[in-house]
Amino acid sequence: MRSSAILAAVAVLAGLACASPAPKFDQHAAHIAYTYPNGTFTKPFDVATNGQAQKLSSNNILVSDVFIAPPFDGRRYVLTSCSFQAPSNKSLGAVSIRKPTTVPVNPPSAISFVTCKSD
Ligand SMILES: *[C@@H]1O[C@H](CO)[C@@H](O)[C@H](O)[C@H]1NC(C)=O
Ligand SMILES: *[C@@H]1O[C@H](CO)[C@@H](O)[C@H](O)[C@H]1NC(C)=O
Repeated sequence: MRSSAILAAVAVLAGLACASPAPKFDQHAAHIAYTYPNGTFTKPFDVATNGQAQKLSSNNILVSDVFIAPPFDGRRYVLTSCSFQAPSNKSLGAVSIRKPTTVPVNPPSAISFVTCKSD
């Protein structure tokens, strides 16, 4: 009885975790997830915060929001700026964040590269 109640609780938590990109804590990487205009989203990908452009392609699918969780040093989030490039390498803009943040991409665009840098 008791163990099945626990399993049910775990299943509920797992369902909730799927409902929005859960912040993951990592000292050396930001975590970025893409949300499509239909409301579905990717899992969070690790992006090194070393100031180098990294391929993080949305496969030419339009992205309407990006979720960014900055690195976490064990006590607090680290101020991080990320910029995004379209497949043409056109800049889609940059954001600076110090906590997990969802940023709208306006108008929605395909994304190919991400460059993140932490303090
Ligand atoms: C939402 O859009 C994405 C990207 O085009 C697609 O992969 C996914 O299957 C779509 N989901 C639904 C529920 O339509
Ligand atoms: C776009 O930028 C990336 C990373 O800086 C580079 O590897 C790629 O060759 C560039 N592509 C174009 C079409 O300029």
